[in-house]
Amino acid sequence: MIKAITGTKDILPLDIPRWKLLESVVQKKMGSYNYKEIRTPVFEETALFARGIGEATDIVSKEMYTFLDKGGTSLTLRPEMTASVVRSFIEHSLSAKQSLNKLFYVAPMFRQERPQAGRFRQFHQFGAEAIGSKAPQLDAEIIIIAYQILNELGLKNLSVKINSLGVPESRENYKLILKEYLSDKITLLSEESKKRYETNILRIFDSKEENDKQVMKNAPLLIDHLDDDSLAHFEEVKKILTIAGIPFEEDAALVRGLDYYTNTTFEIVSGSVGSQSALCGGGRYDLLIEQLGGKPTPGVGFAAGMERILLACENERAFEDPVEKIDLYIARIDENLTDNVYELALYFRQQGLAVEIDYMQRSVKAQMREANKLNSSFVLFGGGDEYKEGKLQLKNMSDGEQQLFGLDEKQSILHKITGK
Ligand code: HAM
Repeated sequence: MIKAITGTKDILPLDIPRWKLLESVVQKKMGSYNYKEIRTPVFEETALFARGIGEATDIVSKEMYTFLDKGGTSLTLRPEMTASVVRSFIEHSLSAKQSLNKLFYVAPMFRQERPQAGRFRQFHQFGAEAIGSKAPQLDAEIIIIAYQILNELGLKNLSVKINSLGVPESRENYKLILKEYLSDKITLLSEESKKRYETNILRIFDSKEENDKQVMKNAPLLIDHLDDDSLAHFEEVKKILTIAGIPFEEDAALVRGLDYYTNTTFEIVSGSVGSQSALCGGGRYDLLIEQLGGKPTPGVGFAAGMERILLACENERAFEDPVEKIDLYIARIDENLTDNVYELALYFRQQGLAVEIDYMQRSVKAQMREANKLNSSFVLFGGGDEYKEGKLQLKNMSDGEQQLFGLDEKQSILHKITGK
């Protein structure tokens, strides 16, 4: 039997109401902050991600689904959206139409990571990117949007971690200081961190290895070596978060796994989902647009993992699963009324009601069981003594009330069901 690929997951009809609820909270929140939706292709030229995210990152060096198409072009299934959104922003000169572009997305991403709880190879993100302004209010806005969405879903066990990575000049200086600090401790580091010492030294802070953690405990911190402008920007972001009532903690070891960040970075972590605890992450990327060939333009954004969020919601019982309902079940009582029942269904479906009928030759009793299972608000009976007298009987399933209508009173039935 052919099965779904490891690390991918079917979202079955039973799961859909939770996904839709999450999506509706996202859509509404993005609307209230005036972010406009953008949809970009699932695959892009590999160079976009290599240049955008950074060759030395885990994503680019280990995790991308990259393949040659028949024309010999190297393509990659997008591992994240920021690079794609920026590509689209540049390609369509979005800045010419709008000096600040506030964009959001809900889309599948692909990373060939080792699958585990909360970590998949195809997963979904929603996220936002505000491109065109350096204002610290936007850094804060991005964090506030992410936090409010999680909060409105009912999640409690959250912590917001923020940091500033400053600008490349101060960061490069700091990397030398960190290199110096680690130079006589390299042998104590894990193999992975030894490699990172050469290629991506900041990421050693991300290591989960106990030895690495011990070594890094006393390491000099980037936050203590920031330039004045970066510090002032960071102070401003924190001030706004405080005004907005967002509980946050500074985490000087928060370095993030993508290379494009400057200044603010943040993650929101849940205590309810095990080791893959980052529900979302993001930050400022003031140099990325230029790096990808656009005019120098600042940007800031975040992305959140939807599977992880739903897992956290399930573990915390953050919300009740929305109940799926239909408006009307039309039960066929007489065998020879099948066509009439179908015709009635056609009419009410055309009027926009969600309607179901029996296709399985079920008994009347079984049809009623089915109507209950589908949470139908009303049942209309096609057949029986009433029908012979030219009447249709409508039953309100919530209070059991029954009412008779003439065969030509379909509109009155519709009014009764819609309450209009
Ligand atoms: P990221 O931290 O790589 O950032 O991913 C954001 C979120 O996506 C993570 O916090 C996590 O919830 C989810 N996620 C990542 N990988 C997986 C996976 N394999 N399985 C399930 N969920 C996963 C970005 O993607 C940046 N583009 C965020 C950003 C936007 N920065 C600025 N703008």
